[in-house]
Amino acid sequence: MGITYSSLMAIGRSETDETDVAHGEEIPEAIRAIRTRRSGHNFDPDAELDDETLEGLIRDAALAPSSYNLQPWEFVAVQDDDRLDEVVELAYGQEHVKEAGTAIFVVGHTEPETADRVFEEWVEAGRFDAETGEQVKEQTVAGYQSEQAGRDYAIRNASLAAENLLLSAHARGLTATPMSGFDFEGVAEFLGLPDDKIPVVLVAVGPSGGDEPERLPRRDVDEVLHREHY
Ligand SMILES: Cc1cc2nc3c(=O)[nH]c(=O)nc-3n(C[C@H](O)[C@H](O)[C@H](O)COP(=O)(O)O)c2cc1C
Repeated sequence: MGITYSSLMAIGRSETDETDVAHGEEIPEAIRAIRTRRSGHNFDPDAELDDETLEGLIRDAALAPSSYNLQPWEFVAVQDDDRLDEVVELAYGQEHVKEAGTAIFVVGHTEPETADRVFEEWVEAGRFDAETGEQVKEQTVAGYQSEQAGRDYAIRNASLAAENLLLSAHARGLTATPMSGFDFEGVAEFLGLPDDKIPVVLVAVGPSGGDEPERLPRRDVDEVLHREHY
């Protein structure tokens, strides 16, 4: 890596950009959180995340939507100093992971391992009759047949959980950054993941160390919104 995320942190700090998103409108807290969330790189290396907060973050992440509510994800939190050094190495030297103090790997299932249990819950809740529940489960399981499909589901579902995690961290006043700049195979081995689980995103999270650089521009709605056809 020539220019690293760590070197980018130093550029263009601003104290006002975070709050200048509502343009004077009254906006609901959730929307404010979406608009002010940032991928922060400035952590307080001396402050730690307590267990209650960690569990709260995971509870919020796990409220993300998932295909048929399969919840095909796991979260592996690394907080041990020596292990964080290894995470930095696996993340090609991104030191902010260590400074954050907590690295949460959002892991996706490439196999529908929760299907039996979850479809029973659909039926128990009266949302499907038993026969429909069985049919939908079979279709869902069949959808995972190819390796590509399994990975796609893992990434789709786990990515939504990761965004929830980021928003929850932000709403709690913490700094968090999603990261995919890491050695996927090395991380799978480091975490001891079984073959049917993949590391999707690493979220570095911890107490803030202060301001962040100004947000980079976003593409305009007119540019990204297509109506009826691309
Ligand atoms: C899939 C993905 C991978 C990313 N990988 C990294 C990473 O390896 N290191 C890092 O510091 N930030 C990483 N980021 C954060 C982005 O740089 C950041 O989201 C983007 O610049 C927009 O800034 P904002 O999130 O503050 O709005 C990643 C973000 C995403 C969604």
